[in-house]
Amino acid sequence: MILLDGKNYSKKLKNELREEVDQLIEKVGIAPGLAIVLVGEDPASCIYVRNKMKAANFCHIKADLIQVTKTISENELLDLVYKLNQDDTYHGIIVQLPLPKHINEQAIIDAIIDKKDVDGFGIINKGKLFSGLPCIKSATPKGIMKLLEEYDIELEGKNAVVVGRSNIVGKPMAMMLLEKNATVTICHSRTKKLGEITKQADILIVAIGKDRFIKENMVKDGAVVIDVGTNRVDEKLYGDVDFENVKDKCAYISPVPGGVGPLTISSLLENTIIAYKNILNIK
Ligand SMILES: NC(=O)c1ccc[n+]([C@@H]2O[C@H](COP(=O)([O-])OP(=O)(O)OC[C@H]3O[C@@H](n4cnc5c(N)ncnc54)[C@H](OP(=O)(O)O)[C@@H]3O)[C@@H](O)[C@H]2O)c1
Repeated sequence: MILLDGKNYSKKLKNELREEVDQLIEKVGIAPGLAIVLVGEDPASCIYVRNKMKAANFCHIKADLIQVTKTISENELLDLVYKLNQDDTYHGIIVQLPLPKHINEQAIIDAIIDKKDVDGFGIINKGKLFSGLPCIKSATPKGIMKLLEEYDIELEGKNAVVVGRSNIVGKPMAMMLLEKNATVTICHSRTKKLGEITKQADILIVAIGKDRFIKENMVKDGAVVIDVGTNRVDEKLYGDVDFENVKDKCAYISPVPGGVGPLTISSLLENTIIAYKNILNIK
């Protein structure tokens, strides 16, 4: 079994991004700017935002945290996004999810102008992805594709099974695998005989948010298993895959923590640099 080490690979990527940013700053005179909007003080969101800020600072991207209270109205939050859209110092904008229940998440995400939508969650970037057009791609599936590429894992003609069909992970993941000519099956909570389908997977990607749900009898011998899940149990982090029991069956497996998570952040930073170059018309 080979461990897909997202932590170390992400370090390497961040070093490369930092070098690129330094060269861009020297050439253009301004740093890429990232606005991170945090609504309220959800503890998990605060951790994610802190990690994004830290990684951006490491890469010399100018990241600003814009924190607003959880009682902010949808209209006030929309106004904030419109203001950031107009602000030339920001080339990327992210609004940390989830948002409080009284706010329509998709309306806020779609208010971010597509060229600054560095999470790639907006309708324009998603539509382009689904149409096979160049776009800013969702950070988590983009990071997974980079990890598969780094380990020279062939996708063409392979049976890829994605468990989970969220707009931010499962669906864009399936599209990116399809783009690389894998034969893709998407499973979800209403899928019947899930284990029989996952057992056919050469590449199994799990993003459901259920602690250690995928067991060894659901995995094919020699499969490549990517675990997106992050489930906190008694202060410990577990994936959606029962790593200890599944690992010996796999050719490759990503751990939690240290697999997909760090690559999500480096892909977000890469997206910010892409947005900066597009906005400033830098080839
Ligand atoms: N490491 C990272 O960077 C990163 C990034 C994003 C997300 N995550 C983690 O990845 C997990 C998934 O996130 P998400 O945002 O995609 O979640 P989500 O929006 O809650 O979607 C979960 C998906 O899993 C499906 N599902 C739930 N229970 C299932 C079951 N028993 N069998 C089969 N499918 C099932 C749901 O099916 P239905 O559609 O039928 O309800 C849904 O499509 C979470 O643990 C999240 O924290 C990690």
